[in-house]
Amino acid sequence: MDVNRVVTLDQFIVERQSHFPYGKGDLTRLLSDIAVAGKIVNREINQAGLVDILGEAGELNVQGESVKKLDLYANEQFIAAFKAGGEISGVVSEEDEFLTPLNTGLSKDGQYVITMDPLDGSSNIDVNVSVGTIFSIYRRVTKHGDVQLEDFLQKGTEQVAAGYLIYGSSTMLVYTTGRGVNGFTLDPTLGEFCLSHPEMKYPEDGTTYSINEGNYSHFPNGVKKYIKYCQERDPATNRPYGSRYIGSLVADFHRNMINGGIYIYPNTETNPNGKLRLLYECNPLAFIAEQAGGVATDGKNRIMEIEPTKIHMRVPYFAGSKNMIKVAHDFMEEFPEE
Ligand code: AHG
Ligand code: MN
Ligand code: MN
Repeated sequence: MDVNRVVTLDQFIVERQSHFPYGKGDLTRLLSDIAVAGKIVNREINQAGLVDILGEAGELNVQGESVKKLDLYANEQFIAAFKAGGEISGVVSEEDEFLTPLNTGLSKDGQYVITMDPLDGSSNIDVNVSVGTIFSIYRRVTKHGDVQLEDFLQKGTEQVAAGYLIYGSSTMLVYTTGRGVNGFTLDPTLGEFCLSHPEMKYPEDGTTYSINEGNYSHFPNGVKKYIKYCQERDPATNRPYGSRYIGSLVADFHRNMINGGIYIYPNTETNPNGKLRLLYECNPLAFIAEQAGGVATDGKNRIMEIEPTKIHMRVPYFAGSKNMIKVAHDFMEEFPEE
């Protein structure tokens, strides 16, 4: 890459357009819409600390508008962007119990559907810790009229694009259309996402494990044994590994993809199917992980091959460096539940 040339997201997309599986610029516009909504959400998140000055949720802000919880605000911003763009015919969002058909009655039906977690890690907003937005894009299966459940209950292998925004010490947009993963950092002075992490690669090994260890006594046997393995001293394999857990999936995932590591949210007694959602947390990040050379499973099977049965279904989640996942799988197999 020419270090002196700043490549904005829009320029990058236009240059790469011929690689998109369905061409014609639809996906180009769609990713631009996501970037614009992301900038608006980012602006709001940056002001979250001013909530005492600007008003609490349910109150009126200084402009006399009612103040929304940020996850609802983000949900509305993204849906508004998709409505205006016209490429999306329906949305499944963590914030909405049912699917939302869009642009009904237009002569041209949008050819894509989207699943999203508009604000991931929202409990971290109050303490100024990184949060994110996660999304997956699919071709719709039904051809006309309102979108149906079957448009969303597609396996992760059918994704045509997926990505996330991370609102952190910098704001980034990371996405894939199935030809590698590229990351863009928002330059606040330009107001543009600029290519900063071309062709991101998930290191094959790592020395970080990320899991909510407070749930330890409720973990499956294999996970317990794997954690103990991570904590043992063995200089040849750089153990003990470091433990890092932010509690924002996007942030934990992003760190592990850059530095190498493993993220696990297993099934527990309170969450017998795990906590994370297949359609808008696990699948999009699985697509990104695989495109960067990493792996994502439920502890045994590839996440992207799981057949979804409900839009909000949960699955146990293991995402990480190839060799770390392999060892974790070995433990899962060797120490099954009694
Ligand atoms: P969300 O804020 O979208 O509801 O997601 C929270 C998720 C995920 O971001 C995070 O990794 C996980 O919940 C944390 O759960 P625990 O607090 O149980 O560790
Ligand atoms: Mn989430
Ligand atoms: Mn959320």
